[in-house]
Amino acid sequence: MRNIVILISGSGSNMAAIVRAAERGHWAQRLNARVAAVLSNRADAPGLAFAQDHGIATQVLDHKAFASREDFDAALMAEIDRHAPALVVLAGFMRILTPGFVAHYAGRLLNIHPSLLPAFPGLNTHQRAIDAGCRFAGATVHQVTAELDHGTILAQAVVPVLADDTADSLAERVLGQEHIIYPRAVAEFLRGLPS
Ligand code: GAR
Repeated sequence: MRNIVILISGSGSNMAAIVRAAERGHWAQRLNARVAAVLSNRADAPGLAFAQDHGIATQVLDHKAFASREDFDAALMAEIDRHAPALVVLAGFMRILTPGFVAHYAGRLLNIHPSLLPAFPGLNTHQRAIDAGCRFAGATVHQVTAELDHGTILAQAVVPVLADDTADSLAERVLGQEHIIYPRAVAEFLRGLPS
């Protein structure tokens, strides 16, 4: 069985969408894959309860307990590797990863970013899209490389920016699309990996 490890920092709604897709789509039988663990850098991440309710192992690793980014990433890698993952999925994991971490999972590390990359890497994507006068916004699933929010694009979804949009209303519209494209992109990526 190929293990997927998902990293979250917050509500974990993308993680939940992937877990539900795995259940409904019978990924265990059809893709020989399962969500084995959900890891969070925040103990109060609401997504942890959802994962536990779905019988998935959870683990919290508080980045503030580590002296450096390198120390945190080393501990995170050790925790992830306990599950021997075929795929590591970042789902609202709000930490910048060290080059060593990215290299360790090269070719099996995915992220979703709430913009139409290569536009608006980094934070506050929705406000920046509104401020720039964009008529369309969206989300991108991509492979993770050492450069932040770069890497091969696997899927994108586009939504309109409406005249009265706030960053919150736009974020909500984009998030709805994230929940559709991320599970699909993960399943598609798994099909392309050796089983
Ligand atoms: C999502 O919109 C995701 O694209 C974004 O955080 C949100 C997490 O929501 N990720 C980033 O900004 C990464 N830089 P979720 O916890 O409900 O999945």
